[in-house]
Amino acid sequence: MTLPIRILVFDSGVGGLSVLAALRLRIKGCELVYASDNAAFPYGAKSNDFLIERVGCVLRELIERVQPDIIVVACNTASTLVLPSIRANFTVPVVGVVPAIKPAAKLSHTRVIGLLGTPGTVNRDYTQQLISDFAADCDVIKVGSSRLVEIAEQCLRGADPDPVELRTILAPMWANEQLDTVVLACTHFPLIAEQLAGASPRPLTWVDSGEAIARRVEALQQSLTQRTDTDTPECDATRQVFNGVAIFTADTESVRCLRPALQTFSCHTLMFITV
Ligand code: DGL
Repeated sequence: MTLPIRILVFDSGVGGLSVLAALRLRIKGCELVYASDNAAFPYGAKSNDFLIERVGCVLRELIERVQPDIIVVACNTASTLVLPSIRANFTVPVVGVVPAIKPAAKLSHTRVIGLLGTPGTVNRDYTQQLISDFAADCDVIKVGSSRLVEIAEQCLRGADPDPVELRTILAPMWANEQLDTVVLACTHFPLIAEQLAGASPRPLTWVDSGEAIARRVEALQQSLTQRTDTDTPECDATRQVFNGVAIFTADTESVRCLRPALQTFSCHTLMFITV
């Protein structure tokens, strides 16, 4: 008997739940553990040095406690910056979530694309490189908004987004009538995809990274399962089960308000750690 592959999905806040949902749809027979660094939320406007240090520390603690087989950094803000240092420091395979600029460029007919992320993500060199590599012939309109991240957080706590505020945040994209495709370059935004579509002046193609990440993790899971089948046939009956656990770095009232939403993502148990 072999142990199920344990996948740790990590974000600053609740955004990674959109990735967790995509993983649950595609991948069967795994343990899925969610972790949010809510003590340091939001990441969107934090300095590079702070994020590299912080994400490294939080992941070190999580690896020790959870012992994941795969880590998904379900945060564009972190992934576009910290993946090289994480991969250099930890041996666990890491899958990052970066802006879906390549698929968006393939889908756009007008060659005008919106890039909706945090201020950190839209301004990163990594993101600029993706644009140069895959959307050089496109006009890319960048909107970096920390407020939209906050709106998504509140939405999961039961507060409906205000359509007028959404329209104001998105206005720079609508200014170009040619725009036909929008990249949701923050994992928080698929959580309010319906409201974003409802606030847009015309039908658009919205692209996020969830499905592509699920495919990548599935391939990794299959290669690890094959390895486990031949290499480590023993089952450790004492291993703690983490499936459906949501871990937070700060024990706040705001986390407790999330309980009903977490249940809908099959996260039934809360755990708190201090980093
Ligand atoms: N969900 C994250 C992202 O994809 C980060 C949001 C934040 O903490 O600012 O960028």
